[in-house]
Amino acid sequence: MAESMRGLKRTCRCAELDKKDIGREVTVMGWVQKQRNKGSIIFVDMRDRSGILQIIFEDGKIDKEYFTKAEKLRSEFVIAVKGKVTMRSGAVNENIATGAIEIRAEELRVLSESDTPPFPIEKDIKTKEELRLKYRYLDLRRPDLQKNILLRSRIAQVVRQFLVDEGFIEIETPMLTKSTPEGARDYLVPSRVHKGAFYALPQSPQLFKQLLMCSGYDRYFQIVKCFRDEDLRADRQPEFTQIDMELSFVDEDDVIDVNERLLKRLFKEILNVDIELPIQRMVWQEAMDRFGSDKPDMRFGMELKNVSDIVKDCGFAVFSSAIEAGGSVRGINVEGQAKMPRKKIDALIDMAKDFGAKGLAYLAVNEDGTYKSSFAKFMKEDELTKLVSAMAGKAGDLLLFAADKDKVVYDVLGNLRLKLADTLGLIDKNKYKFLWVTEFPEFEYSEEQGRYLAMHHPFTMPFEEDIQYLTSSPEKVRARAYDIVLNGSEIGGGSVRIHQDDIQETMLKALGFTEERAHEQFGFLLDAFRYGVPPHAGLAYGFDRLVMLMTKQDNIRDVIAFPKVKDASCLMTNAPDIVEDVQLEELGIQVKETKDRI
Ligand code: AMO
Ligand code: AMP
Repeated sequence: MAESMRGLKRTCRCAELDKKDIGREVTVMGWVQKQRNKGSIIFVDMRDRSGILQIIFEDGKIDKEYFTKAEKLRSEFVIAVKGKVTMRSGAVNENIATGAIEIRAEELRVLSESDTPPFPIEKDIKTKEELRLKYRYLDLRRPDLQKNILLRSRIAQVVRQFLVDEGFIEIETPMLTKSTPEGARDYLVPSRVHKGAFYALPQSPQLFKQLLMCSGYDRYFQIVKCFRDEDLRADRQPEFTQIDMELSFVDEDDVIDVNERLLKRLFKEILNVDIELPIQRMVWQEAMDRFGSDKPDMRFGMELKNVSDIVKDCGFAVFSSAIEAGGSVRGINVEGQAKMPRKKIDALIDMAKDFGAKGLAYLAVNEDGTYKSSFAKFMKEDELTKLVSAMAGKAGDLLLFAADKDKVVYDVLGNLRLKLADTLGLIDKNKYKFLWVTEFPEFEYSEEQGRYLAMHHPFTMPFEEDIQYLTSSPEKVRARAYDIVLNGSEIGGGSVRIHQDDIQETMLKALGFTEERAHEQFGFLLDAFRYGVPPHAGLAYGFDRLVMLMTKQDNIRDVIAFPKVKDASCLMTNAPDIVEDVQLEELGIQVKETKDRI
């Protein structure tokens, strides 16, 4: 039976009370965490978003009607309790904020009852994630998730306040729009009025924020949903949130400066962590050469070394032929791991193959100075000595080498470096290591499509001295783009934009756009640029990723109220779902193939 709350007003949340409130008459409302019936006395742990509070119902000291009701309370009933705050009669519970007090109930109302929940609403439960996601509204009641969601809201608040203080204007941009070229597949929405035509949900507000600069708004920001139909990973969702910004009359240093101050304020206010400014900057090529990654985790070493010069003429064909074919040979030194058992080394080789390597060569420097190696027999003694010394190898170290095209070598060693640091416990999880990665290549070659694609997006300004290579040797062109990396995760990225139409035109040509197609896709932007466009630049953070790192979560789903799973479906609503035939009819759509219900 559900009662009304008429005549009762909540006076505070559960965990807002403490010793200073002793003697106060209060009314609290929330969920029954647990009810313990000791005969003449009933204890109820009551929960709301602030925490837990103990309520006491004592037979004889409270109307019989209320005591009888208290006897029937079960987990997750929603109740209202009026009573007096008293010192806790039993032992003080140090684990909860309200552990020194309790409420002596004088009145109880059951506002609603509850079925037995499919899993306990508690911290650190081991329940399977599928079940938690199916009943997300219950999962969201749990204190660990509530903590993340509340922190997420506070982070947004601090960011918003900082940006407003800095003169940024919050402006919304459309969700039903045209394709934005950010490199992922679009989510499309069919138009009923214009049959056969589709809106695209924005992959980012990129074009609109550039237009806002044309319109003179000079500093824009938005905390905004973006949509990308791409393969999901632990740090990716099909719909995610960006903290998006754009500034006029600025260069990369201005964007970096305001963002460093934003990060400093944010980490101080939310985590009481002091970030030292300026944040280190590293050009893309150096990041790749030293860490095999454009988002290096700087919390530990194990840097890559290029040993191509040393092994280019050696007797080990795997090495020499890779170099001959235009590739390189690079290694990492896994210090102190010479005794790694063969089985574990084999597992590393398998892992290297998963990352695209043809193999992984190893050399362990034994304590007695001899080597245990998959390739030492193909090399001369002095070649080996030089190689080991180039790798700063000492007795007890394990050296791992990959030989292939640069891209593969970077990928393999960069990933092995992360994996090994994780399993060997080399990462200090309490550190926050920020890094700006700059001077990205403007283009990357797609083997699949047989053409160059924009690495960031087609509106990114190339380095002035590289503009001459735009059409002749695009691989040489560096972009005025920058990523902000935290602990090996890309939390944001941006660039200085092209605002000169001749450069934009050449850029689009280099990307294989015909004039016609460019105009079809973003003619409105190119047109706008003909009417006075200020130089501008911007950046966008992956807000969910930022929250994930600040709350030390391993999975992006744990910082999103209603996330999607790997196949982009929602286990709670069953979206995406098939629709009524009449809806399809109205849209002029005929479905060729229907998958089974998800
Ligand atoms: P970019 O594509 O780098 O840049 O996106 C900015 C940041 O958004 C985050 N991100 C994601 N987070 C969760 N799930 C996803 N699927 C996902 N995809 C990206 C990343 C990334 O750094 N318009 C440009 C920004 C600019 O140039 O101003 C853009 O969208 O943390
Ligand atoms: P193979 O000659 O293929 O038997 O390889 C000899 C050793 O070199 C084995 O330990 C392989 O794992 C390793 N190896 C093979 N290809 C590569 C490569 N591209 N890079 C590094 N090591 C490799």
